[in-house]
Amino acid sequence: MLRRIQDADVANKKVLVRVDFNAALENEDVKETFKVAAAKETVDYLLSKNAKVAMITHLGRPDGKAVPELSLGQIRDDAERILGIRTAFVPDCIGEKVGEAMDALGFGETLLLENVRFYDGDEKNDPEFAGKLAQNFDIFINDAFSASHRDHASVSGIARILPSFAGLRLQKEVEEMEKVKEGFSRPAVAIIGGAKIETKLPVIEFFEEKYDNVLVGGKIANEAIDQKLEFSEKVVLPADFVDDRLDIGPDTLLRFKEIVLGAKTIVWNGPTGKFEDEKYAVSSNEILNAVIASGAYSLIGGGETLEILEKNDAMGKVSFVSTGGGAMLDYLGGAPMPGIEVLES
Ligand code: 3PG
Repeated sequence: MLRRIQDADVANKKVLVRVDFNAALENEDVKETFKVAAAKETVDYLLSKNAKVAMITHLGRPDGKAVPELSLGQIRDDAERILGIRTAFVPDCIGEKVGEAMDALGFGETLLLENVRFYDGDEKNDPEFAGKLAQNFDIFINDAFSASHRDHASVSGIARILPSFAGLRLQKEVEEMEKVKEGFSRPAVAIIGGAKIETKLPVIEFFEEKYDNVLVGGKIANEAIDQKLEFSEKVVLPADFVDDRLDIGPDTLLRFKEIVLGAKTIVWNGPTGKFEDEKYAVSSNEILNAVIASGAYSLIGGGETLEILEKNDAMGKVSFVSTGGGAMLDYLGGAPMPGIEVLES
């Protein structure tokens, strides 16, 4: 059982919330606003209980060094606007500056701490660094499902030091992921695309065993074909392509759409073509329309898949949009989720 934020006594406590604002930026503006908005419910909840709240996240992969282009300072105003909560930036995530800012924090306001990966202790999960993160706080909340596959100090390490609980978003993500793992309605279909077959194989195998069909598109379909990977007949690889295998071909698309339209449960992670180029976004767009038209329970995740949803103005038209990319694949594929396991008791 997950320890839940609802069971924590947070009134007048200093609470550190692990969020995941590792969003794509464009001219210092947050492109993936969804990732930031995902934290709102938990932060609002804490503020309504008179907690003093600071948010901590990574941004990019600065490799344990302070990289100005990856400073959280540049997204403070976006975070404030998206969350609708006054947000002050603290140019560090440990030490006195954080302690002083917490003491000075007003009611209904929140802090955004500097990129935790500016310290190498985060990714190393150094206990001493985790202790420093914990120093200025009474309670730790993990609300970052999309980072919970990482065994890092700000995800799992600190949760061993402070009383720690799952935030509302994290709970919701776990609940929705469980729905597609057990007790789902049939026919159940997984659509897996994107790149790096090695990262997607466990999830393809998981769904091959449990679901009625696994539709494989995108670069991983090419990789699977080139590597002569063998699957059962439940796994449908493309039979035809467009141009230099940059999108699945019309026959394959027709077959995918038929299967999707008949489904009652759909999980989708990864585009089925090189969707950045409009010419090769055809299959991803049409599959999205079929997912919506099917009326099935649909769970969709992965940064690129969410871009397809956003471009088609379809974020509200599917059953659940996950913040998790790699985390979703790991969770469904059965890989360890250190940020969640540490909250179980
Ligand atoms: C993500 O964007 O998928 C998460 O924030 C994890 O980021 P990472 O792969 O750099 O750990």
